[in-house]
Amino acid sequence: MAQNIYDQDEFFNGYRRLSRQVTGLDSAPEWPALRAMLPPMPGARVIDLGCGFGWFCRWAREHGAAAVLGIDLSEKMLAQAQASPHDPAIRYQRGDLETLSLAPASCDLVYSSLTFHYIAALERLWAQVYAALIPGGSLVFSVEHPIYTAPSHPGWVVDEQGIKTWPVDSYQVEGPRSRTWYVPGVIKQHRLISTYVNLLICLGFTLTRLEEWGPTDAQINATPELAEEKERPMFFLVGAKKI
Ligand SMILES: C[S@@+](CC[C@H](N)C(=O)[O-])C[C@H]1O[C@@H](n2cnc3c(N)ncnc32)[C@H](O)[C@@H]1O
Repeated sequence: MAQNIYDQDEFFNGYRRLSRQVTGLDSAPEWPALRAMLPPMPGARVIDLGCGFGWFCRWAREHGAAAVLGIDLSEKMLAQAQASPHDPAIRYQRGDLETLSLAPASCDLVYSSLTFHYIAALERLWAQVYAALIPGGSLVFSVEHPIYTAPSHPGWVVDEQGIKTWPVDSYQVEGPRSRTWYVPGVIKQHRLISTYVNLLICLGFTLTRLEEWGPTDAQINATPELAEEKERPMFFLVGAKKI
């Protein structure tokens, strides 16, 4: 049974105030790198797994996608997505990615931002994704980087000289991690980079790009708080294709 933390009032009231949720994709610093991995949008049939407020669903339509299906477990997230001006080519569906079935050969792009690290049955889900893509179709996604998800007590350590480090323990121990993020007990799944990559290879995907995202100098100049993201990668971005 999946944890539906985004429907918990206290969690949702914190999460919805994140700038990336208030103003959308341009406030997500990793978005330019993820966008660069996307195939051309015109005419594409797109599925967004863990669509949240639907920011990417609307972006895909604005850039020419023919049809977009946004799937999410959270009623509150979907309600916010559906509060945007109606577009008959965007369909939002409540669904649990742990048990989801997708129609075979039904789409050109499966996109997912910061959702797969919540999923325990990832191999099952990605097998569905592979079958749902047409030959030549793309899977583009981001997850929290394994260096970020691994530690049993995540957090910066600052020494006497002000040097920040991110201690990593338990890296080889895959599985659930309980985090305090707005509320205690938020469950995320830690996996090795090699596990993500080997799962994709075993399913038949061809990797097209990997990014261990870090801010550019221009981003740090514009938003100095991003400088600490140079110390360790927070996001792992992947582009893959079904050949
Ligand atoms: C960090 S948010 C990302 C939302 C959106 N993709 C974005 O980048 O703004 C993670 C999303 O995954 C959804 N989610 C988590 N577990 C899920 C599951 N088992 N099935 C479907 N959606 C799930 C949450 O409800 C939430 O909307």
